[in-house]
Amino acid sequence: MPEWAPESWRSKPAVQQPAYASAADLATTAARLSSLPPLVTTWEIELLKTQLAEAARGERFLLQGGDCAEQFDECTADTITNKLKILLQMSLVLVQGCKKPVIRVGRFAGQYAKPRSEDFETRNGLTLPSYRGDIVNSPGFTQMEREPDPRLLLRAYERSALTLNFIRALVKGGFADLHHPEYWDLDFAQHSALAGEYHSMARSVVESMRFMENVAGVRAGEMGWVDFFTSHEALLLVYEEAQTRRVPRRDGWYNLAAHFPWLGMRTGDPNGAHVEYFRGIVNPIGVKLGPSMTVDTLACLLDMLHPHDEPGRLTLIHRFGREQIANCLPRLIDAVRASGKTVLWSCDPMHGNTRYTGDGTKTRHFDDILSELEQAFAIHRSCGSRLGGVHFELTGEDVTECLGGARNLSDADLKRAYRSEVDPRLNYEQSLEMAMLIARMMGQAG
Ligand code: PEP
Ligand code: CO
Repeated sequence: MPEWAPESWRSKPAVQQPAYASAADLATTAARLSSLPPLVTTWEIELLKTQLAEAARGERFLLQGGDCAEQFDECTADTITNKLKILLQMSLVLVQGCKKPVIRVGRFAGQYAKPRSEDFETRNGLTLPSYRGDIVNSPGFTQMEREPDPRLLLRAYERSALTLNFIRALVKGGFADLHHPEYWDLDFAQHSALAGEYHSMARSVVESMRFMENVAGVRAGEMGWVDFFTSHEALLLVYEEAQTRRVPRRDGWYNLAAHFPWLGMRTGDPNGAHVEYFRGIVNPIGVKLGPSMTVDTLACLLDMLHPHDEPGRLTLIHRFGREQIANCLPRLIDAVRASGKTVLWSCDPMHGNTRYTGDGTKTRHFDDILSELEQAFAIHRSCGSRLGGVHFELTGEDVTECLGGARNLSDADLKRAYRSEVDPRLNYEQSLEMAMLIARMMGQAG
């Protein structure tokens, strides 16, 4: 392999990058960014890698979730708290179902860049650059809002720091203490049909923890106190490069903008700039696999991104859709087995199940998401493999973006509270219900 450097991706074709008007302004901003302190530390990154290695061995379960894209305007105390609350509630339910510690990874504190299928969008005869996430431009349809602006890189970095600062303070202050799941109750959720079942699960987790603590005579350590890790799609390579650093007394280059960057489906070309970037960083990484992934390409990615079979390094996140998973997944499981390498398998049941309603609203149906997950568990089991994680687009808010679920949301409901600028998210109730159903599936599997 040729030499790697944080900027070596620049010699490869880079898809999904915005066209900035001034290369000089972009370079100035990137230089400023690379002089700012990092968001995360190598200790945290290595801890996550160790935990992901345990998940790959079946000793933990990975829950990754959050918005499709964070928005600058939603960097508020309530939105962040609600996101933590739903992830905590889901993880508590999953702990109950799989009887293993759950690793919580948020799609937050940096999930600001979006891949788009078209570079331009035309409305009423006016053609403007596509919205690529708040780190690049703004969703409003005017020339000024859609012009990629390098200064937004700094705004995104600052918003990520604000988000993470608040999350760390909440966790340290005891918000995430498993002894007190009542802290995570969401005001509007009291009347949910699932509230009763959830509260009795929460009570039983607290009781078993107290029982164990009484027997052992100590307060649960790691089990009673939970961590959050951060993740985002490492799409905008100038941003990622600016955060790629060496630290004293450790080997290799770390991306210090997130614990767990992932490679999106549209940027997985082994000859492309994104794979070049990912091959050189030592973080644990995720790789999305869609229906177009071939056995040969996967073998090539395993060689390039996971050459030393380092435990915890690689998580494969498949997202085929309910219709295609049965066709696509088994041969990829075989390809990994043939490589002799260990990976953690996770399922993103969101991105292969997008559909449009009659009036063109982008949505997903709860039943399709559930069906893909059920199939994922079953296929891994029958291929002698193991599904060790799940990846959701969700929010702690009471939005109406996905159809179905306990309240059986219909096309008409989507008009009520559709807030995503990009993909539809499971709302609070749908997320909790999904966690309960997964817990049931895992409980049944033993
Ligand atoms: C995403 O996770 O928001 C996304 C764009 O996913 P994918 O790359 O799998 O399409
Ligand atoms: Co998405």
